[in-house]
Amino acid sequence: MAFPSAWLDELLHKNDIVSVVSDYVELKPKGRKLWACCPLHGEKTPSFSVSPDKQLFYCFGCHAGGTVIQFLMDMERLTFYEAVQQLANRVNMELPNEINDREMQRQRAYKKRIIEANKEAARYYSSCFLNPAIGKDAQAYAMRRGLTSEIVTRFGIGYAPDTWDSLLKLLKSKGYSEKELVDAGLLVHNTERNTVYDAFRGRLIFPILGVNGDVLGFGARVMGDEKPKYINTGDTPVYNKRNNLYGLYLHKNEKLDDLIMVEGYMDVIGLYKAGVKNAVASLGTALTQQQARLLKRYVEKVYIAYDGDAAGQNAMVRGLDILKTEGLEVRVITFPDDLDPDEYVQIYGKDGFDRLKENALSLNAFKLEAMAKGYDLNDENGRERYAKAACAFVAGLQPIEQERYYKQIAKKTGYALEALEAQGVRSGGIQTGESKPMIRGGFRRRVETGEDPRDIIERTLIAACLHDKRALGHAMEAHAEELFRNTVYETMFRAMSEQGSAFLPAKYIGGLEGKDAETASAVLREDEAIENAVESAADCIRRMKRENEEEEIAKLQAILKKPDLTAEERNAVLKEITERIRANK
Ligand code: GTP
Ligand code: MN
Repeated sequence: MAFPSAWLDELLHKNDIVSVVSDYVELKPKGRKLWACCPLHGEKTPSFSVSPDKQLFYCFGCHAGGTVIQFLMDMERLTFYEAVQQLANRVNMELPNEINDREMQRQRAYKKRIIEANKEAARYYSSCFLNPAIGKDAQAYAMRRGLTSEIVTRFGIGYAPDTWDSLLKLLKSKGYSEKELVDAGLLVHNTERNTVYDAFRGRLIFPILGVNGDVLGFGARVMGDEKPKYINTGDTPVYNKRNNLYGLYLHKNEKLDDLIMVEGYMDVIGLYKAGVKNAVASLGTALTQQQARLLKRYVEKVYIAYDGDAAGQNAMVRGLDILKTEGLEVRVITFPDDLDPDEYVQIYGKDGFDRLKENALSLNAFKLEAMAKGYDLNDENGRERYAKAACAFVAGLQPIEQERYYKQIAKKTGYALEALEAQGVRSGGIQTGESKPMIRGGFRRRVETGEDPRDIIERTLIAACLHDKRALGHAMEAHAEELFRNTVYETMFRAMSEQGSAFLPAKYIGGLEGKDAETASAVLREDEAIENAVESAADCIRRMKRENEEEEIAKLQAILKKPDLTAEERNAVLKEITERIRANK
């Protein structure tokens, strides 16, 4: 970390998390913690907690959590550095200059170099595209796909010639080092032969721009049927696909009513060409929380319009709850016949798309539809099973919404409204239906972060150890560090063992990366449940041991099933299993 640790300690010490959070929401004490409605995601019942003794926050709803620094980063959308700066201002602490500034400046300068290199590359690819000789095939391909020269300019579309070193030569001649270009993702380093070569060859190029106009990376599409269809810039010092949305930069200074989330480069471009200019792409990944937060800076309402194929629909189901959690209003557009948005507007035009948009489904209506796809509704049995599952889902919704959805189910299944309502009441409602959709059939059930029962056990152990030195002592004696499966908890436990009473949760978690910090802060979830810390710890350790053992045995059993096992190997494995089972008796 770039700030001296003693200085950060003082900063955290002076900025009590309770007082900082209280600038945003009113905290009310309950149990060991203070509670409020989460200021990071919209909600009506308080699931946001602050632990004064641990100096951490954790939201049971959106799983955000961490130190006071993380809180400001989330709340004000600041970088780590900016959040620290703000906290320092708040308590009149001078920022430490010299050393840290130098490291920050070095990093900033390096990022700038990479962005410059990307910009040079984008210019080069564009000139290749426009070159009558070199870009001939690319131009023909672009034309086949309906890309006008206006669109090509607007999106900076280029062409990477089919050579191993043309970009390499050009950028080296401009003073960029191989390391810089490899770090940028423009060159690939072959470790075996220790050579470098151009990452994109013989492909159509889509530059990926950040909201401030920086060229952060590229997508590169083959112009035939070869695989992979796309190569995209991976993680670099300036780009991570989880943090970006393709096409968003076009709207930096616009006031938008809504944004349309699509999957691919060509969907954004195809819609734009048809006159639907407010689409952005998640680039083939399931939507992330960072992307949702980015969207939230621009609009309140998001239409999600993923491909009509199974993969697109699956990605959609996963994205929906993330958007909702960020407090965005979500509508779902579905396309007929496995079409993607680009194909759809080519056939039906902007008018057709606008009609789909008008008829977009609400989140819950979409979930019900998605659920229906898992059943054969032409069959009596399928209708019944769907009706039961759907009623259980609806029973978990707000009463005011229920009527509408029962009607929808009635229409689909032919059952009478009263029967369906009675069925719903009987099922008791699966859950709230808001954050934990129960979608069967073709869809993978969403597993909420931290819902893995094993994680709960491991978290509880950590919470117990934080609570009581004796619990920590017991866990250390039992070598609990060897039992963890979740590496975040394992590492945390090791740090606790080493530092003993010098271990400060807020300081430790402050040094973790965002995702890890969230996982670690989730320890606060189990805080309340612990009554006798030593007993809790002992119980967790027993359960972890037993599960690990069962897993080992299961692995051995899997080996036994292998067809090509020799008699000798078989006996050895059997012996090992028996020994393990007996040792556990
Ligand atoms: P077209 O087939 O040219 O219309 O592209 P598309 O934008 O419709 O892409 P598609 O729906 O097939 O995929 C959506 C997004 O997933 C793409 O824009 C890419 O970002 C990503 N993607 C697709 N295929 C690949 C691949 O083979 N490798 C990688 N890494 N990403 C891919
Ligand atoms: Mn497509």
